[in-house]
Amino acid sequence: ELLHPGPEAAERGVVLAPDGSTVAVGPLLAGLEVGLKRAAGTPAAPAPGDPLYAVTLAEALGTSYLLARANGTRATLGPGGCWDDVEDPQVFTLVGPPSPVPDALANGALDGVLLGAQLAETPAPLAALLRGYYHPGAAGERAPSSFRRRRFGARTGPEKLEEEVAAALRLLRVLPATRSLLEDVGDEEAAAVARRAARDFVDAYVECPAVVPRCMWGARPYRGTPSALTPPLPFVYIHHTHEPGAPCRTFAACARAMRAMQRFHQDTRGWDDIGYSFVVGSDGYLYEGRGWHWVGAHTRGYNSRGYGVGYVGDYTASPPDVDALALVRDAFLPCAVRTGRLRHNYTLRGHRQMGRTECPGDSLFREIETWHGFQ
Ligand SMILES: *[C@@H]1O[C@H](CO)[C@@H](O)[C@H](O)[C@H]1NC(C)=O
Ligand SMILES: *[C@@H]1O[C@H](CO)[C@@H](O)[C@H](O)[C@H]1NC(C)=O
Repeated sequence: ELLHPGPEAAERGVVLAPDGSTVAVGPLLAGLEVGLKRAAGTPAAPAPGDPLYAVTLAEALGTSYLLARANGTRATLGPGGCWDDVEDPQVFTLVGPPSPVPDALANGALDGVLLGAQLAETPAPLAALLRGYYHPGAAGERAPSSFRRRRFGARTGPEKLEEEVAAALRLLRVLPATRSLLEDVGDEEAAAVARRAARDFVDAYVECPAVVPRCMWGARPYRGTPSALTPPLPFVYIHHTHEPGAPCRTFAACARAMRAMQRFHQDTRGWDDIGYSFVVGSDGYLYEGRGWHWVGAHTRGYNSRGYGVGYVGDYTASPPDVDALALVRDAFLPCAVRTGRLRHNYTLRGHRQMGRTECPGDSLFREIETWHGFQ
């Protein structure tokens, strides 16, 4: 049923992984099936392209961009969604109209490719493979699933994905069920569809970092009426939260930290909402505070000029771990520029340069002094 889903599949065939990401099971199982067949030496049915990509991602992505070509208002990627209760998840609801590639399908496809390839090379019992991938290590190391974007990006560049989508389109052209979608699409246009689909997917799901939405960390509503930012903004301000003073290393701990900060900012400080635009966990994820669109309360006097990005922890004596630093420096900031949220010539500052505070801590401040855009 999961491999051949009905129309409600986008909200039904998904699970909440321990790292807080929602994963569509269909493309995951399809990738595992290809991996098992490869490990057993079963020849694949003759088809253009690599079946591991075709069954997980390329066909859905190709179909999505073909449908959008016929109907310009159709969504091509996304959206994300929310669970009724993250402690006891039963019902998942998308936050907007579904495209053929909702976020959960993208996650399931990345996992299907990564785990299918792993299984083909090193056969293992499925339970051990899945537990090892989705659960934190015995010593509390991050679950490999929280690195899925980086790992997928390391094995699959935009050119490779473009080739696989182009191959999927060649297949869709001859299949009776989809032939009509390509009736008036020439080879050159098909190539352009593949290029755009691959580029957009890599931008959204590989090169940009995943952001945990407010509904997933259990945010209270904003109080009052938010003011809109006018991107692209010229500044980014880096903070540490100081309190909580310890980095959060799991989805549950980071979500708890977010709720505690929002309570403190709303109830004690009397602000409308959690102050930061985004918060950085040490679990591999960014958490949505005020987000891209709304003015925050992070850097007095400058809130409408820049995004405020806060690291969970106290970074006076030692810096955040290398992955948490890389998440902002190498993924979040370039993504913000590419997507038009931040000016290409943005200036990056530590909170202490803008007011009387030690924030973001001596150690984190020394790190960001080496970052692109620091002044
Ligand atoms: C185009 O796509 C939108 C969004 O998916 C949908 O609401 C609309 O009905 C579609 N229009 C046509 C003519 O298919
Ligand atoms: C950044 O670029 C914009 C145009 O894109 C320009 O108006 C602005 O003056 C530049 N700012 C700096 C600090 O160079």
